Amino acid sequence: MKLLPRNLSGYQATISLFTVTACLLSSVNADNSTDPCAAIARKKIATFTEAKACLQYFPFDKEAADQTLDTVHKIVTELYVFKDIAASPPKTKGLSVVPVDLEHGINIIRNQAWNSDQEFQDSISLLLDKVHDAHLAYSPYCYRQFLFWQPIQLNALIRNQRLVVNVAYVKNDVWPEAKESWVGCEVTKIDGRDAFDMVVDYAVNNNGESKDVNTCFNNIMNTKSYFHGWDDGADDLGYHRFLPAQEVHDYTLRCPSNGTSPSKEQFDEPFTVSIPWVAQVPQGFHSAKDYWTNYCYSGHSTFRKRSLSENEAVNAAVQMLDVDELTKIHNNHVFDLTPPAQNAGPDSSEGEYVHFAALEGENSKVGVIDIRSFSIANEDRDAFADNFTAGLESFEKKGIEKIIIDLSSNGGGDACAGEFIINTFFDATPEYASDVKYSPFLERVIKKSYETDSGKWIDYKSEKFKGAEWYTHPVEYERGGKSVNFSQPITLSCESWDSSLTAKRYNNKIWKASDLLILSDGRCGSTCAIVASRLRLSHLVPAMGLGGVRGNPMQFASFPGGESERLSGFLLELQSLGLQNDPDAPKPFPQRADMGWTFRESYRPAKDSDGPFGDSKNLLEYTATNADCRMHFTDENADDIEVLWGQVAQVVLKGQCPLKEE
Ligand SMILES: *[C@@H]1O[C@H](CO)[C@@H](O)[C@H](O)[C@H]1NC(C)=O
Ligand SMILES: *[C@@H]1O[C@H](CO)[C@@H](O)[C@H](O)[C@H]1NC(C)=O
Ligand SMILES: *[C@@H]1O[C@H](CO)[C@@H](O)[C@H](O)[C@H]1NC(C)=O
Ligand SMILES: *[C@@H]1O[C@H](CO)[C@@H](O)[C@H](O)[C@H]1NC(C)=O
Repeated sequence: MKLLPRNLSGYQATISLFTVTACLLSSVNADNSTDPCAAIARKKIATFTEAKACLQYFPFDKEAADQTLDTVHKIVTELYVFKDIAASPPKTKGLSVVPVDLEHGINIIRNQAWNSDQEFQDSISLLLDKVHDAHLAYSPYCYRQFLFWQPIQLNALIRNQRLVVNVAYVKNDVWPEAKESWVGCEVTKIDGRDAFDMVVDYAVNNNGESKDVNTCFNNIMNTKSYFHGWDDGADDLGYHRFLPAQEVHDYTLRCPSNGTSPSKEQFDEPFTVSIPWVAQVPQGFHSAKDYWTNYCYSGHSTFRKRSLSENEAVNAAVQMLDVDELTKIHNNHVFDLTPPAQNAGPDSSEGEYVHFAALEGENSKVGVIDIRSFSIANEDRDAFADNFTAGLESFEKKGIEKIIIDLSSNGGGDACAGEFIINTFFDATPEYASDVKYSPFLERVIKKSYETDSGKWIDYKSEKFKGAEWYTHPVEYERGGKSVNFSQPITLSCESWDSSLTAKRYNNKIWKASDLLILSDGRCGSTCAIVASRLRLSHLVPAMGLGGVRGNPMQFASFPGGESERLSGFLLELQSLGLQNDPDAPKPFPQRADMGWTFRESYRPAKDSDGPFGDSKNLLEYTATNADCRMHFTDENADDIEVLWGQVAQVVLKGQCPLKEE
């Protein structure tokens, strides 16, 4: 299950805040025998069963559940741009999309008798995951506080021409029985099934990250070996924030004989170990009561009830949203436990968005631009642009002839930061056109935004229409066999972003498209996906896919849908426009939770005659563009990004990754 894509680079925890609350409550006597949360409070580690008992202690509440589903339903039907095409998606070679009728799914959830609130909440997350659009996600933070670990962590490597499932590292800090000697062992079976089949199945069915199987596969594996810092990996095969489906997995391991390297393939007798999920316990609670207060309770639990009765009253007082709560959610200050430090590549430091590395030795003519995030904080814009210019100037000075643009595990961010990078290399080209789903409610929002000259809507531009007219003159398109109204085609204007920069701009006269290479493990999402797609489709920069399932053509980008929004931010915007009580506005969730969705769909140019503008019939999200060449992880490069970049540099220098004709 996906966590919502982050739009801030820092993963700030709120431990200090929770600790204060917990201390105040420490005099409360929790009964360990009847309160399963009290039984594990203050422990570092709990068993799967203990954690499950705490998470499932909170009863299903029909009224809160209906309120939650009403909001999910409203967002899906009125605001989610792919709702209709998701129910009847086009068959596209290379994409694994199954039809998902979200309205039907919501009805099924609504009519089911749930045993606990956790099971109900997670069923919503699972439903949205099925669409395989990482922008569409539901996160009930109440049930995302434990960290669940499999004490052995896997990656996938090519070894002697075979793709093998391998033990990358063990977590004996959470489970002392995990042995260091298992590292490097091949996993031949998981739960009695062929290990590779099991992992691919899991990637297809349990990971909503992308419509490309290779990308989902990379997302659940290889996290330690290739991690840039976007996704904390909380939906990996062996690392979750949500309650796993079963307590124990059986692994059959085939280990190299003592003193031999794995590639020698001299194995000891295979053996099978049963390995449990282990839960890292959040530290801010003493009992179920304060677990609920600290992690689940929302000031919005009564928003709906009051507004219903107020609807009947004339001149009812305007109900205000809890801005502190929404801001906290929007800034991701909702987790007690921070994710563990990961291997983030060389010189990684918090707040560094882009890293320039000139390679050495036989690769000294090759430079790498490692772009980790486009979520540039407003106050960092100038430094970001300055650094980019300085980086390219230093490459120029060093005589760098070829550039690898590493976009792996980049979850996107600010579209204008992406635009800046494209325009630094090439002459400015217009952004691909896009549109927003039409609804009378959103028309009121967008009109108000123009009237008050505030909010994000005023940054969109249409060729033919002025002001809010791009939205008030809807167009009908066919989506999934249905007629649906959308806005006129628009593009995002980066004028105000650009004009805020004082930094010097780099004017590239050195590197042609064929001197550049996009490197991506497929986990280049959102803004990153749009930047990569434009570089590849419009500017003809070749792309190399990394990892994934061998022999399965792979894309270099995922969830290029367009642009996403989160309920927390959307409600804050409504409040600032004074529209939070609009009868059609989605109501806040009654518990601490957030939802994300794509609200803008980007077109893809189908052929040259479309020009760079794109065609409303071809959506980037529902078309596939494969990488031009491919590289896999091996024993040599999996834990050493410098080695990996060196190998990619050799491919570039030998001209072995030319642009493929489609
Ligand atoms: C509950 O268990 C914790 C340790 O897990 C212990 O510190 C605490 O005193 C126990 N409380 C009661 C009421 O037994
Ligand atoms: C492996 O061999 C070395 C000597 O080559 C020995 O010291 C070590 O104990 C052996 N390890 C195991 C697990 O047998
Ligand atoms: C700019 O580069 C400096 C030096 O490498 C680094 O410390 C800083 O974090 C960078 N700033 C941004 C916004 O990328
Ligand atoms: C689209 O909008 C037009 C009016 O602009 C309306 O007549 C039509 O019914 C709408 N279509 C749908 C599918 O809502």
